Amino acid sequence: MLEVDGLKYHYADGRKALRGVSLRVSAGEKVALVGANGSGKSTLLLHIAGAVEVQEGRIAFNGHEGSETLRANVGLTFQNSDDEILMPSVIEDVAFSLAAGGMPPKSAHEQAGEILAGLGISHLASRPPHRLSGGEKRLVTFAGVLASEPGLLALDEPTAGLDPRARRRVINFLRETDRAVLLATHDLDMALDVCARAVILSGGTVAREGSLPGLFKDGALLEANGLELPLRYTRE
Ligand SMILES: Nc1ncnc2c1ncn2[C@@H]1O[C@H](COP(=O)(O)OP(=O)(O)OP(=O)(O)O)[C@@H](O)[C@H]1O
Ligand SMILES: [Mg+2]
Repeated sequence: MLEVDGLKYHYADGRKALRGVSLRVSAGEKVALVGANGSGKSTLLLHIAGAVEVQEGRIAFNGHEGSETLRANVGLTFQNSDDEILMPSVIEDVAFSLAAGGMPPKSAHEQAGEILAGLGISHLASRPPHRLSGGEKRLVTFAGVLASEPGLLALDEPTAGLDPRARRRVINFLRETDRAVLLATHDLDMALDVCARAVILSGGTVAREGSLPGLFKDGALLEANGLELPLRYTRE
C-alpha cells in the first residue's frame, strides 16, 4: 500500500534529515518507527502524509505518487499538536473532519460523539480546543484524524504526555483498528503492544527492520540506537 524508496531530504539550513530511506507498509499492517532524537522519524512522517515536497526519492500510495494523493489517504498527528485544531468546540472540530469527508452534518455530529466516547473524552465535547491541557489536545487531535478515515494513520508520538488510562485507550484503539498504522514513538512498550514489525531509523537511514518482539531482543542494536526495552521485557 505505502512504498517509500530512496527518500532523501535536507532542511532549508542544509541539515540532512533523511539520507535514503526505503520502507513498505501493507494494508492493515502496523509498523513502529523508532530511533533516537533527531534520527528522522518526524521528517519521514511529514513526507508520508504529503505535508512536505519530496526532494529526492519516491513515495507512492497504492501506486500513486504526489502530495495530494498522500494527503487524501494518510492521516497525520503531529508531534506538537497545538496548531491543528481550528473549530470553536471539540465536537465541532471532530464533526468538521467527518463532514469534510462528505458525511451529512447530523450524522457527522453523532459519529463525532461516538469517537470522543471511544477515546474517553466525551466530557470535553463542548470545550474550546485551545483551552485544553496538552494531553487533552493530543486526544482531540487523534479523534480528528480518526474522523477523516484515512487508509493509513501516521502517528507521531501519539501517547506522549497522556495519563496511563488515556494512553491505554489509544493503545487499545490502535490494536483494534483494521487501518494501517505507522507509529513513530519512543514508547517501545506501546510498539510491542501494537505493532508486528519495527523500522529503526538512525541518522536519517534505516538501521534495521524486522519483526517484533524479536528485533528488540538485540541488546547491542537497541543500545546503538538509544533505545531501551521496557522493564517487563527484560525480566525473562
Ligand atoms: N525545521 C528544521 N530545520 C532544520 N533542521 C531540522 C528541522 N526539523 C528537524 N531538523 C533536523 O532534522 C533531523 C531529523 O529531525 P526529526 O525531527 O525528523 O527527528 P525525530 O526522529 O523525529 O526526533 P525526535 O525523537 O526528537 O522527535 C534532526 O537532525 C533535526 O535537528
Ligand atoms: Mg520527532
